[in-house]
Amino acid sequence: MQLKNDLILRAARGEKTERTPVWLMRQAGRILPEYREIRNRLSGFIELATTPNLAAEVTIQPVDILDVDAAIIFSDILVVPEAMGLPYKMIEKRGPWFPETVQSAADIRKLQVPDPTVELNYVLEAISITKRALNGRVPLIGFAGAPFTIFCYMVEGSGSKTFAKARRMLYTEPQLAHELLRKITDTTITYLKAQIEAGANLVQLFDSWAGILPPGQYQEFSFRYIEEICAAIEEVPKTVFAKGAFFARKEMGQLPCETIGLDWNMDIAESRAIIGSNKTLQGNLDPCALYGTEEEVADATRKMLDAFGPHRHIANLGHGVYPDIEPEKVKAFVRTVKEYSAQMKE
Ligand code: CP3
Repeated sequence: MQLKNDLILRAARGEKTERTPVWLMRQAGRILPEYREIRNRLSGFIELATTPNLAAEVTIQPVDILDVDAAIIFSDILVVPEAMGLPYKMIEKRGPWFPETVQSAADIRKLQVPDPTVELNYVLEAISITKRALNGRVPLIGFAGAPFTIFCYMVEGSGSKTFAKARRMLYTEPQLAHELLRKITDTTITYLKAQIEAGANLVQLFDSWAGILPPGQYQEFSFRYIEEICAAIEEVPKTVFAKGAFFARKEMGQLPCETIGLDWNMDIAESRAIIGSNKTLQGNLDPCALYGTEEEVADATRKMLDAFGPHRHIANLGHGVYPDIEPEKVKAFVRTVKEYSAQMKE
């Protein structure tokens, strides 16, 4: 299938584009009334994510409504632990919760490296349906959590400010931590390859909790597994978004991937200097900037675009869009990227 809009793929590969492509992390759902309408007919997030027709429908909503340059498959990073044998619940207003967690060698032994075409087939089916329905309008992004972020949830059992239970294992039983990270990494590689096989045009790794580690531990327990995953995936461009990992930007510049995501704490010019010119950068407007007026959103967006410059940039926020942001503000962000970046490139 020939893509009608492949800006994001060309930008990822470092080719010149007529304008800067734009999408938003967590664009599917949450902010859209059209999403909530579908979601409220069901028992909850998990039913929606495991029903391929509906997952495909909410994946496409932001393309129709927000006019972004890419779709991201509607799913969650936590489908991976579930497929490995650790089911989760999504508690309304509180987030994910795992009734069982991983604490011992025996717990790790019980986990499987699943066959994604069996245990995660509902995601692959959602990808196929989405691709057919998109009919080449925009590329589809597949994704997975980075192994360390998945490890955090599997050991801690829920979200946390510090993930102290999970991080404790890095000090008390580092070997055990590596055994678990090994299984997650193996699962993630086959899962991403299956997403690509099903039609994903680009994949992103979310290391949402990278920023809670000291730099040495980040290298040992997170970065090296990300590197392994990037090296194993050769089929499509890869994006690595490690939130808070400002201390690892130099190494990020050497990763076998095309794009590095920046959060909003990272200075744009400094990041470019540290990461070097061989990577596309993605980001990084503060999600809270979208609480401003439409004019303020446009101003902040233009400032961001000026700092990144006209090439090797994929516009996005510095993290996922917050649930109470008005769709009109997101539209102002998207519109400004398109209009202003087209002028920058003239
Ligand atoms: O980007 C997209 O729009 C695609 C779908 C997507 C979801 N989760 C759907 C979702 C993606 C890419 C994710 C990734 C994800 N999930 C991450 C990494 C990105 C990040 O934000 O750092 C993490 C850490 C999770 C785990 C998770 N899932 C949490 C902590 C929560 C609860 C809080 C929240 O963000 O809403 C979820 C639930 C979740 N995942 C929802 C959606 C649409 C809300 C569920 C609902 O509709 O009730």
